[in-house]
Amino acid sequence: MSDWILVVDDDMFNLRMASHILSSEGLKVSCQQSGEAALDFLADNRPDLILLDVHMAGMDGFETLEAIRTDTDLVKLPVIFLTADEDVGTETKGLEVGAMDFIRKPFVPEVLLARVHHTIELTRLQENLAGEVAKKTQELVRQQERIERIAMQIARALSGAVDAKDTYTNGHSNRVAEYAREIARRAGFSEREQNNIYLLGLLHDIGKIGIPDAIIDKSDKLTNEEYELMKTHPEVGAQILKNITEFPELATGARWHHERYDGKGYPDGLSGEGIPLEARIICVADTYDAMASRRSYRDVLPQETVRAEIEKGRGTQFDPYFADIMLQMIDEDKDYRLREQVEDFD
Ligand SMILES: [Fe+2]
Repeated sequence: MSDWILVVDDDMFNLRMASHILSSEGLKVSCQQSGEAALDFLADNRPDLILLDVHMAGMDGFETLEAIRTDTDLVKLPVIFLTADEDVGTETKGLEVGAMDFIRKPFVPEVLLARVHHTIELTRLQENLAGEVAKKTQELVRQQERIERIAMQIARALSGAVDAKDTYTNGHSNRVAEYAREIARRAGFSEREQNNIYLLGLLHDIGKIGIPDAIIDKSDKLTNEEYELMKTHPEVGAQILKNITEFPELATGARWHHERYDGKGYPDGLSGEGIPLEARIICVADTYDAMASRRSYRDVLPQETVRAEIEKGRGTQFDPYFADIMLQMIDEDKDYRLREQVEDFD
């Protein structure tokens, strides 16, 4: 299909000249004699290029072009000004309002044709380039999403491996991750931060891989020696996750989720704001789920007991701010849904 040129000029002689030169090259030509008529024409038609006279009665070329540019459908339509001026100011102003080029009158056929072809070609190239960039960007986004999905699946598989060691804490890591993400959401963390906290929550107990099953599954009270061994799981976890150098924060949840706000936790005895935010959040979520799920030595605790324990630990075991959010979540959870659904496993 041949390219379609709209010529706008209030001088009939110029219109005829331009029309003659362009159509002799096989181009389709439409003519309008004023800016107003051109705008009417453009309401229903989409030429490939506009040749626009600068000096016209009524709307001049600048005003016409400004009106064209306010229409989002026409923003990219290329416009070349037709001018008899030798005035630099006219050209500068024309470029400012968005003209792509100038053609001087009287027309020199070769120049007119060369500029028209060149401008149309350039516009097509720009469109193609923009299309290519959009396509490549989409591909990159898809790849990025795939990598994130793989990372998430690996994290789930790893946390599943930990949970599988302990028949009594089935799904614990997953629930801690969910609760931690919800606390972060309510605390105003960004979507990305919430997702990171979810991952940290999933892997917080990864160090239990290094603890003998006999200790993890023991239904009696642990001996001092066994308890000391159990307490090494944060450091073991941090050691394991340290190898994921692309995501160094991942080890944060594993290493410090047993720290206490009052400094009496382990392994490093950090306190208050000295404990990374993510670990403070996971600590509340972890303790909550430990009570709201079955253990080898007891069943799921009643909701009011769990609530009372979180309340009690506010400011001692837990950061009071995140404890309050957990309490709010408990109070909204009228049917006690935030707990291990034991019947699923019986
Ligand atoms: Fe733990």
